[in-house]
Amino acid sequence: MSVTPIELYHNYVKSMTKVADIGAASALMSWDQEILMPHGAATRRASQMATLAEIKHTLFLTKVKDAIDAILDSKAQEQLSEREAANIRLSIRDLNLATKLPIEFVAQQAQLASEAQFAWEQARKENKFEIFLPLLEKMFQSKKREADYYGYEDSPYDALLDTYEPGMKVGTVIKLFEKLKPELLSILKSVDEANKSGKTPIDHFIHQHVSSENQWNFTLKILNDMGFDSNYGRQDISTHPFTTSFGMEDVRITTRLDEKDISNALYSSIHEGGHALYEQGLPKDQYGLPLGEACSLSIHESQSRLWENNVGRSLDFISHYFPEFQNLFPDKLNKIEPKQLFSALNTIKPSLIRTSADEVTYHFHIMLRFELEKDILENKLQVKDLPEAWNFKMKEYLNQDVPGDNYGCLQDIHWSIGAIGYFPTYSLGSLYAAQFFACACKEMPNLADEIRKGNFVNLKSWLNDRIHRYGRNYFSEDLCERVTGEKLNIRYFIDYIRAKVNNVYEI
Ligand code: CO
Repeated sequence: MSVTPIELYHNYVKSMTKVADIGAASALMSWDQEILMPHGAATRRASQMATLAEIKHTLFLTKVKDAIDAILDSKAQEQLSEREAANIRLSIRDLNLATKLPIEFVAQQAQLASEAQFAWEQARKENKFEIFLPLLEKMFQSKKREADYYGYEDSPYDALLDTYEPGMKVGTVIKLFEKLKPELLSILKSVDEANKSGKTPIDHFIHQHVSSENQWNFTLKILNDMGFDSNYGRQDISTHPFTTSFGMEDVRITTRLDEKDISNALYSSIHEGGHALYEQGLPKDQYGLPLGEACSLSIHESQSRLWENNVGRSLDFISHYFPEFQNLFPDKLNKIEPKQLFSALNTIKPSLIRTSADEVTYHFHIMLRFELEKDILENKLQVKDLPEAWNFKMKEYLNQDVPGDNYGCLQDIHWSIGAIGYFPTYSLGSLYAAQFFACACKEMPNLADEIRKGNFVNLKSWLNDRIHRYGRNYFSEDLCERVTGEKLNIRYFIDYIRAKVNNVYEI
C-alpha cells in the first residue's frame, strides 16, 4: 500500500518539529546563559550547547532530508497545498545550504567562534587589538572558505549576506548606500548649521534619576499597550538587550536599566517589543516550519525599528505618555513641553558607538563596517590594517577621532562570533521600517490620532496581517513590494527623517 501525499507531508512536519524542539532547548540554554547562569558553568554550557547543535544538524540532514526525498520521489509535491509546498520549497533551500558545508568545517568554525569571542573580550578589556588580531584573521579566513563552499558569482560577500538576508545582493546594498550617503550628509549639514545658530535642543532634564523599579514598570505598561502578550512571553534584564523565542507561545525579551538615562530602558523595551510582536504574530500552526519563521533579519529589524523610532520617538507617542514621564521624573518636567521632550529624545549627534547612535548617523556606522568587511573578504584590505582603516573612515564620515580601539573596531561582538555580512541588515531594517510605516499611515489615515491616544491595536493588526502571518514565504524585497506596492525605496526613510530633523531643529 502506498503512502499518501498527506502522510508524507506529516512525516516531514514531524521531523521538522523535532528539529525545532532541539533548537528551542538550545535557545533556552543560551537565554539562561545571558540571564541566570552562574559564571562557573560557562565551559560546560558551551559543550552542552555544542551537543544540541550537533544533534539538531544531524536530525535535519537525515530525518528531514529523508522525508523530503520521499515527497520528491513520489511526486507528492504536486498534490500539496500552496502553503505546504512553500514549506517544502524553503526546506529544500535550507538543506542545500546546510549540505554545502562539511560537518568538520561547521565544528571547526563553532570552536573558532568561541575562542575568538574570548579573545575579543580580553582585547576589549585591555584595549589591545593585537590580542584579537590572530583570531580575527582566522575568522575572516574561515568565512572566506564558507563563502567558497556556498559559491558565489561576484563577491564572496554575496554568499555570506545570503545567509542572513536571503536573496539580497551586495550590489543592491552598495546602490542603496550610494543613494543614502549624500542625503544623510545633507541632513547632517543642516543639523550643523542649526547648532551653530543656537537651535540645539536642551536635554539635561532626561538625565534625572529614575529608579529601576519605576522604569521597569513603565516599560511593562508600554509593552502591554503595544499588544505584547505576556501569556506568551516575558521581559527580563540583561546588559545587551535581545529577543529570543522558543516558539510563538514563548517569546523572551530583555531590557537594560540605567537610572541616569531612562531612554535606555524605554527604547530597548520598545525595540525588543517590536521584535517580539513579530515572533508572537507568526502563524502558530506552522511551528518549526519555514512559514512559522521570520522572513529575514532585515524584516525582523524593520519591526523593532518601526516601533522604536517611527512610533516610539514620534511626537504623538511622546505626547501621549507625557503625563507618565512627568510622574517618573523628580522635577515633574516642570516648564518642559512634550515637544521639548520629543526633541531631547531625537537629538542628532555624531558619536563613536554604534549602539547609542541616533537615527541619522547610525547608517554611517553600518556603511563603515560593511565597506571594511567587504574589502577584507575581497582581499583589498588586510585584517592587521583594520584599526587604521576604521579610524580613517570614522573621521571621514562622522568627523570623529577614535581615542582607542575600544571605541573603534573592538566595539561590536559580531566579527568575533563570525557574524560577517550581517551589519547591512540593520540599515535595511530602518529603511523597510520607514516604508512600511508610511504605507500604514496612508492606509489608516487615523493612525497618528490613534498613536496620540496610546491606541496601537490597528497598527499591530496591520503588521500581523501584512507581514507577520506570511512567515518566510517571500524574500524581503518581494514582501516589501507586496505590502507597499514597490520594492525597497530609500525615499521613505529620507522623507521621514528629514521631516523629523526639521521639526526637532526648527529648520
Ligand atoms: Co534589533
